[in-house]
Amino acid sequence: MKKKHIKILLLGAGGREHAIAHKLAQSKQLQQLFIAPGNAGTAQLGINLPIKVTDFKTIKQTVLENKIDMVIVGPEDPLVNGIHDFFLTDTQLKHIAVIGPQKHAATLEGSKEFAKKFMYKHNIPTAKYKSFTKDNVSQGHAFLETLNAPYVLKADGLAAGKGVLILNDLQEAKNQLNEMLTNNKFGAASNKVVIEEFLDGIELSCFVLTDGKNYKILPYAKDYKRIGEGDKGLNTGGMGAVSPVPFADAIFLKKVEERIVKPTIKGFQKDNIPYKGFVFIGLIKVNNEPLVIEYNVRMGDPETEVVMPRIKSDLITLFKAVAEEKLDQFNLEIDKRTATTVMLVSGGYPEAYEKGKEITGINEVTESIMFHAGTKMVQDRIVTNGGRVLAITSYGKNFTEALAKSYQNITKIKFDKMNYRTDIGFDLKV
Ligand code: AMP
Ligand code: GLY
Repeated sequence: MKKKHIKILLLGAGGREHAIAHKLAQSKQLQQLFIAPGNAGTAQLGINLPIKVTDFKTIKQTVLENKIDMVIVGPEDPLVNGIHDFFLTDTQLKHIAVIGPQKHAATLEGSKEFAKKFMYKHNIPTAKYKSFTKDNVSQGHAFLETLNAPYVLKADGLAAGKGVLILNDLQEAKNQLNEMLTNNKFGAASNKVVIEEFLDGIELSCFVLTDGKNYKILPYAKDYKRIGEGDKGLNTGGMGAVSPVPFADAIFLKKVEERIVKPTIKGFQKDNIPYKGFVFIGLIKVNNEPLVIEYNVRMGDPETEVVMPRIKSDLITLFKAVAEEKLDQFNLEIDKRTATTVMLVSGGYPEAYEKGKEITGINEVTESIMFHAGTKMVQDRIVTNGGRVLAITSYGKNFTEALAKSYQNITKIKFDKMNYRTDIGFDLKV
């Protein structure tokens, strides 16, 4: 194998992208890494470029100027906007490998109804549902009456993670349905609303990398979405994660692979949905049975900060196998250790918060990997630049040991109004 011959452009700016960049940087094949726009962490591994992830014209220019061989897409926005299709239909770009699915597949994340129809069609277990528009609101009310509380209402389109309402009261559910459909509560995203049966169980995330025909299941993870201890309070992008997931035993994981992963990949083929990239399957375990809550067409954040550290294989060889549709020939090696991460966030997040706070103590961290999320360099200082600021990832023989290391290192890091959850893993048994 030729050494140091690959030039990569990675799109995104979060902890997810720093974790991917960190893993790419370990590959002997990497000649040069560009990250657009990146953060203070990715700046230590490659060249940050001030380009928006949806600015396809400038991305094209950069790719050509720097002779990029492979583009890896972190967030969903460029995928939903068709970046992979943009590359495939441009004569100067079509030979470049893009890791991330085309627009058609990205609809699995961009439209809840599309995802539900796909699951029903391919017999993939999921909550029963019906979808409604402003033309049949009263049928929506009637459907709600057939369900038991709590009621799950989902804006069909992308609503920055805020488009799902879970309500205990029937009347309140009807009122909110009206708000979504007739008062544009979530803008155009709620022109259509999916109403679902509530599933009572424990959630986990399954990550699959596929070339469209073959697949590899990456380490399973569980994230902690709420801001408050004990999973209370507002939803965030994610406050911490663990991998593997102690309650997902071999029998359960076999069910996930047979009933969910295989039919999903076969479904892509049957429906002519080309797919080269990550599939993030949000699962819920109900009475030991797996059901799908949602699909995303990217990696999760902060799950990536525990999944990447557990991949032992070379990431560039893995991505090349995706691009060349040879994943079946790839031997994926996984680190048996547990990895955990704890997110440090800005005070006030997920509501209003201030940026630009100096972060100190980063160099004192030992035995943990620090993945930057909302950070940037201002001269020689690292300052906060977002709600989620740093993910502190550690290994251990189990999640308690790994978390103890993360929490130990957190005591060394300081910034004004720093906040984090002290109870990641609280609901798990060793
Ligand atoms: P989604 O954007 O579809 O992942 O929904 C956001 C969150 O709402 C999920 O992570 C679950 O915690 C919760 N949720 C969504 N659908 C259901 C459901 N049918 N039953 C119970 N909880 C749900
Ligand atoms: N951690 C959940 C997500 O990335 O959507």
